[in-house]
Amino acid sequence: MVTPSPTGDREKVVSKLPSQLRRDLKVRAAQIGVDIQDAVSEALDMWQTRTDDLPVIDTTGGVAWSSWLRPGQWSELKATCAQREMPIVQGLAQAVDLWLQERSAPAPTPYPRRIVLCNQKGGVGKTAVAAGVAGACAERPELKVLVATEAVALQSSEEAATGEAEELLQNDEAHPGLGLRVLLVDYDPQGHLTAQLGMQAIGIDDPSLAKYMAGTVRTGSVRDLIVTIDDDRFGGRLDILPACADAFLLDIMISTDRNRQATLQRALEPVEGNYDVIVVDCPPSLGVGMDAAIYYARRRDNEAPSNSGVLIPVQAEDSSADAFALLLEQIESGQADWGIQVDHLGLVVNLYDARDGYVITSSLEAWKQFKEPRVVGVIGRLKDQREAVRNKRALMSYAPASQQAKVIRRIVREIV
Ligand SMILES: Nc1ncnc2c1ncn2[C@@H]1O[C@H](COP(=O)(O)OP(=O)(O)O)[C@@H](O)[C@H]1O
Ligand SMILES: [Mg+2]
Repeated sequence: MVTPSPTGDREKVVSKLPSQLRRDLKVRAAQIGVDIQDAVSEALDMWQTRTDDLPVIDTTGGVAWSSWLRPGQWSELKATCAQREMPIVQGLAQAVDLWLQERSAPAPTPYPRRIVLCNQKGGVGKTAVAAGVAGACAERPELKVLVATEAVALQSSEEAATGEAEELLQNDEAHPGLGLRVLLVDYDPQGHLTAQLGMQAIGIDDPSLAKYMAGTVRTGSVRDLIVTIDDDRFGGRLDILPACADAFLLDIMISTDRNRQATLQRALEPVEGNYDVIVVDCPPSLGVGMDAAIYYARRRDNEAPSNSGVLIPVQAEDSSADAFALLLEQIESGQADWGIQVDHLGLVVNLYDARDGYVITSSLEAWKQFKEPRVVGVIGRLKDQREAVRNKRALMSYAPASQQAKVIRRIVREIV
C-alpha cells in the first residue's frame, strides 16, 4: 500500500518484512546513525543495481512493516520484482538483507558490556534477572534456543522441568545461542546468586572482591576468585565471582578511598579482557558500594550509548515506585558529582500477578507510562524460577523452554 506524504517528498509504504530483518535493520541503522527510511531507500537502490541472483530469503511469518520512501521508488520495486518474477516482499527482504551486508556493524567496543542489576528494594528479582540475563548471553551458539516475540511471560511451562519440550510455539522464534563470554559478579554479601547456582561463597578471611576493592589484598587479582559454572548449556562461557560475607562491611572498607566510586572498576579491570559481558547483581542498598556499581555502569569513552548501563527490576506495587524514585535520585546525583553518563537499559516488571487485583494492574500501567527508563519486559510470578533456585541450577538450563526463559532471551536481545 502506498500513501503520498502531505509535502510530496516521500510516500508511505506498508508491507511485510521478516521480524529478524526488521530488528536488524533498526539496530544497524541506530548503530551507524542513519534514519531507517534513508536506509531502506538506499537498500532498494542497491538492490535495483544488482543483476546477479541474490539468495532467496524466507519471508514466511513476516511482520507488518511500514516506511517512507522516495516517490516512485515503490513502483520501481514492483516493476523490477515482476521482471525478476518474485513477490514484492521477497524483493524488499533481499534489499534489506543486502544493505545489512554492505553496511556492516561498527567495530566492537574494547570494553565488555556492563549490565548492573540494581534496586535497593529486596526481593524484586535482581538476582533472578541477573542470573537469567547472564545465562541467556552465554548459551552455546550451536544450540537453537527459543525466544519469545513479546517480552511478557505470565505462564509457567508444565514441561519445563525436563527441558525436553523445546518445541517452537506460534509466538516464539528459534535463534542460535548468543555464545558470549560472561562474568556474573555476586556483589551482594548475602550471596543468593552464588548459592542459587550451586557455588560456594568465599570464606570471610580469604581474598574477596571487597578486599580487592579496598586494596587490603595486594597479591593476585579477582581472576583467582572466579569459578566457571559447570553446565553443558553454556560450554564453559559462564563464570561467577562468588560473594563473600565481608561485603557487609564494604561501605566502611572503601569509605576513606578518595576515589571510592571507582573501586569496583579498579578491581574488575584485570579480568575485563576475558569477557564480552559482565553482569553485576547488586545488594539491596544505596550505600557507597552502590555508588561504585553505578559508576561501573557508566558510558565509557568511545562506548556506544546503552552498550552498558543499569537494568532495574521492579514490582507492580506502590512501594516499588517509591524505592525507584530514590534509586533514580542516587543515579542522577552520581552523574552530576562525577560528570558521567549512566544509561538506562530498562525496567523489568517482575513477579507480576494480575490476580492480585487493581493496585497491581494499575501499577503495571503506571510503569509502562515511563519512557526513560522504559519497561523492557514483564515477568509473572512463575514456578520455574523457584524450582530452578531449589535445584541450584541456572533457569536457562533448568527450564530452557519456559516462558520466563524465552522472555529473558527476548529482553537480552533487545538490550544487548
Ligand atoms: N518471576 C518470578 N517468579 C517466581 N519467583 C520469583 C520470580 N523472580 C524472583 N523470584 C523469587 O523471589 C525471591 C526474590 O527474588 P530475588 O531475585 O532474590 O530478588 P532480589 O535479588 O531483588 O532480592 C527469590 O526467592 C526468587 O527465586
Ligand atoms: Mg538478590
